[in-house]
This record gives sequence, C-alpha cells and structure tokens, in this order.
Amino acid sequence: MNTRIPIPGGFRWAVMIVAGLAQALTVLGNTTPALLPEPVSLSVTGGQFAITPATRVLHIGDDPRLADAATYLAQRLSQAFDQDVVAERTDATVAQPGAILLTTVGADAALGSEGYALTVANDGVVIRAPMAAGAFYGAITLLQLAPPVAFRGQALVENKPGGTLTIPAPRPCDQPNLSTAKPVTALTVPCVSITDRPRFAWRGLLIDPARHFWTIDELKAYVDSMALHKLNSLQIHLTDHQNWCVEIMKYPELTPEKAMNEADPQRLSGQTYYKLARHYYTQEELKSLVGYAAKRFVNIVPEIEMPGHASALMRAKVCPACLVDGKESSSGEICPGNEKTYTVLQDILDEVLAIFPSRYIHIGADECSKKIWGRCSQCRARMKSEGLDDVTALHGYFVGRMSDYLQRNDRTLVGWDEILESGAKAGAIGMYWRSGTSDELVRRAAKNGQRLVMTPTAHFYFDYVQSPDKESEPVGFGRSVITLKTAYAMKPVPESISQIDPGLVLGIQANLWGERMQSFPHVLYMTWPRACAVSEIGWSPERPRDYAGFFQRLQSHLERLDAAGIKYRKPTAIDR
Ligand code: ACM
Ligand code: ZN
Repeated sequence: MNTRIPIPGGFRWAVMIVAGLAQALTVLGNTTPALLPEPVSLSVTGGQFAITPATRVLHIGDDPRLADAATYLAQRLSQAFDQDVVAERTDATVAQPGAILLTTVGADAALGSEGYALTVANDGVVIRAPMAAGAFYGAITLLQLAPPVAFRGQALVENKPGGTLTIPAPRPCDQPNLSTAKPVTALTVPCVSITDRPRFAWRGLLIDPARHFWTIDELKAYVDSMALHKLNSLQIHLTDHQNWCVEIMKYPELTPEKAMNEADPQRLSGQTYYKLARHYYTQEELKSLVGYAAKRFVNIVPEIEMPGHASALMRAKVCPACLVDGKESSSGEICPGNEKTYTVLQDILDEVLAIFPSRYIHIGADECSKKIWGRCSQCRARMKSEGLDDVTALHGYFVGRMSDYLQRNDRTLVGWDEILESGAKAGAIGMYWRSGTSDELVRRAAKNGQRLVMTPTAHFYFDYVQSPDKESEPVGFGRSVITLKTAYAMKPVPESISQIDPGLVLGIQANLWGERMQSFPHVLYMTWPRACAVSEIGWSPERPRDYAGFFQRLQSHLERLDAAGIKYRKPTAIDR
C-alpha cells in the first residue's frame, strides 16, 4: 500500500506520488511504514537494506553541521547495536555501496532549509538535502523506517547532580519508562523513496523549570525526545513569580544557593520527588544545553518574564519597585516608570544573549497586573512625559523599549499575544495563547509586520489532563481536559487568520506549564503522545486530518518510545 497525499497545488508532487504508487503496488506484501510525522511523499520501492555495525555513515565535505547530523545518526545506531558506529567524512559525491551517505550535493533547493530526499536501495542509503538540518531529519526518518529498537536508549530520569530522591515514585505517572530494548546486530529497512519538508519553520514545546525545577540532564533528555519527532524549538520559561533559574553574574542576588528553599519552603511542597541543593542553572550548564540541542537541530529560546510574572526578580531587589505614596510597593510587577529598570534589564539581557545564540528571545509580557502603575508616582511621571494615555500604553512603551534593545543586538523579540496590543516592533513574534485572541490583534500584527506562533490554550496547554478519568490521571491544571484527539484537532491557521493572511503563522508550539508537574517522568507523561500530534501538525503538509490513520501509526510509534525510554500516557478507549 502506498497512500500519500501531496501538498496542495503541487503538481510535481502529485506526479511523484502517482508514480510511486504504481511502483509500490507491484511489490506485494509491502506495507507502508508507520512514519510520524507523516512525510510529504513516500513510495515503497521493494526490497530491503540491512544496517549493521559495519555500515559506514558518511558525510560529504567540510560542513560541520552535516557532520553533526551524521554523528547523531551514528550515535543512535551505536546505541541500537551497543557497538560504536562512527560518522566519517568523505569526498565521494556519489552513493557508496553498502553505506549511508548524507550530502547536500545536488540537492533540490526547493526542499528548503529543512527538507530532504531519502532513498533506501538494496545497496545503500542516500540522504540528500539542501541544508544540514534536512539531512538530520532524513536520518530521523531512516531510524523510523527501521524496527523500534533503532530508538534504543534511555531518557534520563534520575540523574540529578546535587539532588537525592526523597520519596519513592508515588504515582504511576512518576514511574520512569525504563527501556528494556536489547541491542541487535542488524536493522532492516525497507527500500523507499521519500521526499519531505516541514509545513512550518517553528515546531516547538515549552518547559517550565521556574515552577518545578528540572536538571540540565533532564532538559537534554527532553531535547532528545523532541529531535526524534522533528520538533526544533524548545522555549524554557526561566523566570516567574516562584523562581529565577538563570545565573546572572552581575546580580548574584537573583540566584542565592538554595534560593527557592529559603525564599519560601512552602513553594517546594509540591516538589515531592527530589530535593535539590539549588534551583537555577549556571551559565556553563545552559551553554552545554544549547550546544547539545544544536547538535540535534533544536533551538533553545530563553524566556525571561517581564514586566509581569516577575516576583522572583522583584524579591531580589535588583530592579526598583513602584512607589505608592512615597513607599516601595511589594508588587510582583516591574516598574516601567523608573529608568534604572531598563539599565538592570538590559544588563540581564546582555548575559542572556551571551548564553543563548537564538535569534528569538522571549520576554513573556503576559498577564501583567498593571493596576499598580496607575498609583505609582514614577509610572505616572513616565506616562506624562511620553504622552501615554493609560497603563496599557505604558505596557506598550515598555515592550517597545525591549524590542528596540533586542533589535539593536540583532535579535528578535517574542512575547505572548499581549505584545500585539502595542509596543512590539516589526519582525516581533506574538505567541497566540488566549484561544480567543481577537481578530483585531491579529490584524494589528499583520499591519505591523509581526508574525504568530500558535499555542492556543484550548488545544496545546499540556499541563491540562489528557482524560476526564480522575482515578487514573494525575492532577492537571484547572478542570479542562485536552485529549490526544483535541490536540490533533488543532488548526494552525484558523479561518479568522487565513482571511487576514495565512502567511502570518510562523509555526506552532505546545506549552507544558510546571505548576502541577512533580517529577520528570510526569513531565514526559504529559508531553507524550500529545506532542506527537504537535509533530505532525507542525511538519506534515496541509491536508484533511485523518485521526484514525494517525492513531494507527501511533501504535507502532509508541514501541519506539518504549525503546527510547520515553515515558508517555498509554492511550485508552477515550482516545480512539
Ligand atoms: C500564559 O499562559 N500566561 C502565556
Ligand atoms: Zn512604577
């Protein structure tokens, strides 16, 4: 069977698929591999190729990023075989008998920066892509063509430097999914021809160590699980009311040792799984995460919350507080009236930019209670001097200054959709999170040259439980339920936006807020398999969504997650 639907309007794709279909139908007994996300086009061409520890993984030329892609593939194969497989550079430009070749030579530029063509023949594999990222995704597809053991590994679950397990895993969702996959001596792959490219450039997840802290090793395991699904952006919510998780050399007050424990032991009460000596990342740790993620073609987007969600910052007293009747307020909001605020935040951003090479820097800017600003003498003076009518305009002024600062530093501001109300500059990215974000805001974004990443609460808030079955599910945020089916039904370009400009949507992201997360296996449990839906919506071409087909492919895919030691919620009757 060979059933793939081309991207709309792509006559060339249609021809390829019809040709592939005819070819495949002659190969009796072949079944379509259960790929997730589904590629643009696939034809099963008959026969198979066996990858063994002796198979050479070759990359052409000196492109270090192509070497990264080949090295990652070799590392995964090494784990599957429990024997070293090493990627090698070659100057050969044609397929090498018996080898897996990754190359950019002769690639079809139309595949874009993340697309690839993958050919598995009886005598070898060629992954040809215009850019290294595409070769990486071709390698991930190759691993999915192999039996699930190709994903053999272990998502780290208990490697907590400085931490000890305090309470044995009390709930099923906290039990790690320990891989029991045994190494093999060969991985047999069907011969195929695949052409593929993503629908969206931004395919992301958010994780929230400010509410419950995860170590760098756990974040690395999370990145690895994303890479296996062609997800390419991890937003880390590094600061909030509860905690400040990033070391800032100029302001060590932000991260005293055991900061969170000392600031408020009550806040730790939910973190029953581990007791840690500290709840922040050193800059070196974060740089090592950035490097690790880059080798998996995942960009780390730091989020430093301002001007709201900032109690941890305000508690450290490095930013001036609002002044009400001459007294410093204890509000968790930054004072945008005082000029010193901008000096401190720019100092902080300077260090953040030095850690994270990401083009995109997230400043939050959501849910700011602006009431205090109307009572603050400094804020009122600022509103008067800048001709700002109200506190919403003051929020816009603040966002605009941050936007300018990031632009001067060659970075792009990202904020939750509140930034679309005013302030953010052309090029900024608004994260559409309030499922009812108004058309007026979207129109304003279009007019201002801003783009959107779609993270609607109703589909993509993964801290909501996955089933109404209270007996078997861990507590989630609020009372809402987001099932796998609900996640899969997410429309990345809703009609209201496509009427304004479908090109506004840069991508999609699911958010796993941390308030209710109590262990790293729990984080994985809430993420998977719903993030499989994110993977497919973000990557696969626009076409009528086939949940039944997705669910069927997912059954095979879950075996890969078992082999990789990635915890997930097992679908139940409600997921059918
Ligand atoms: C948000 O959930 N406040 C972005
Ligand atoms: Zn103020």
